[in-house]
Amino acid sequence: MSILDHEQVLIRTGPRSGLPVIVAVHSSTLGQAVGGCRLWRYASWQDGLTDALRLSAGMTAKCAVAGLANGGGKTVVAVPQGAELDAATRRAVLDDVADTIASLDGTYATGPDVGTTPQDMAVIGERTPHVFCKPAQHGGSGDSSPATALGTLAALHAVRQRLHGTRTLAGVRLSLVGLGSVGMRLARLLADEGADLLVSDIDPAKRAGSEELGATWASPEQALTADVDILVPAALGGVLTEDVVPHLRCAAIAGPANNQLATAAVGDLLHQRGIVWVPDYVVSAGGVINAVTRELHHETPDEARERVEAIEHTVADLLDTAEHRQMTPAQAATELARLRLDAPPSTPRPTST
Ligand code: PHE
Repeated sequence: MSILDHEQVLIRTGPRSGLPVIVAVHSSTLGQAVGGCRLWRYASWQDGLTDALRLSAGMTAKCAVAGLANGGGKTVVAVPQGAELDAATRRAVLDDVADTIASLDGTYATGPDVGTTPQDMAVIGERTPHVFCKPAQHGGSGDSSPATALGTLAALHAVRQRLHGTRTLAGVRLSLVGLGSVGMRLARLLADEGADLLVSDIDPAKRAGSEELGATWASPEQALTADVDILVPAALGGVLTEDVVPHLRCAAIAGPANNQLATAAVGDLLHQRGIVWVPDYVVSAGGVINAVTRELHHETPDEARERVEAIEHTVADLLDTAEHRQMTPAQAATELARLRLDAPPSTPRPTST
């Protein structure tokens, strides 16, 4: 991907924190660019930049396919490997992020992502109004993980329908890789529906909670290549590599982790193996749908929930289109995103200011 695919990319050494703050605005064609703030360890700031470029492009596609009048962006703070952020440095980082976002004057608004919380959004909100998911007492819609988990569940209903002609997840064999804030919530929803669950996380402390749900614990490697109906990647990106594909034993893959494919070629390899891959940016849209619907469009939590649950229809439509037109669901999703980006809606939607 060329950097010229993006409208603008700001890279700054945070004046307070001394850490690299990267804000990538991929597209504001459909409206204000949105995308979370990732506070994560990278071998170099250049790796952080690569992540920001890919993740922000993913947000453009995520919003377009979800039917939102928003574009895509992302913030990455590249923390050096091995560094621990104490409370004062964390505060300094968030102030640096807030000033950088404020300088964009509303072209881009941030939200929580890997390594940041709704409380962090409240801190950012002290310096800029362009931030989603502050806790309710600060006037925001709070944690986006429940909505992301719910949207993933909706996507899994559509995949199940496609595979077995029934949308219930009772008895379906699922392997869930990653029990972070979205993964753990999803595990609970799946257990409630009676799914036959295999779960894993790099943190062994997650084992006890998952076994309480009646799930079977496995190592991340075992879980990735387990003989199941649907593989659900819910950890960090890049898990689907060219080396892993020959070992996969699932019929379909649909999960909320961003950037699951290590390279674009992996998408074709999955297709050749007859494995249905639903693009991560379609599956994981629940969080941003909920935040935008409630905070920009001032709809009720119930209305937002309906929009999140509509991911089931979006995925069903993409799977239908893919079958009828003999393309992959990923190609169908890209085509839909392009179509929407080429013909932005004529009535402007309200923005946060
Ligand atoms: N971090 C999530 C995403 O990237 C959720 C989110 C982002 C929510 C931006 C609101 C605003 O999709």
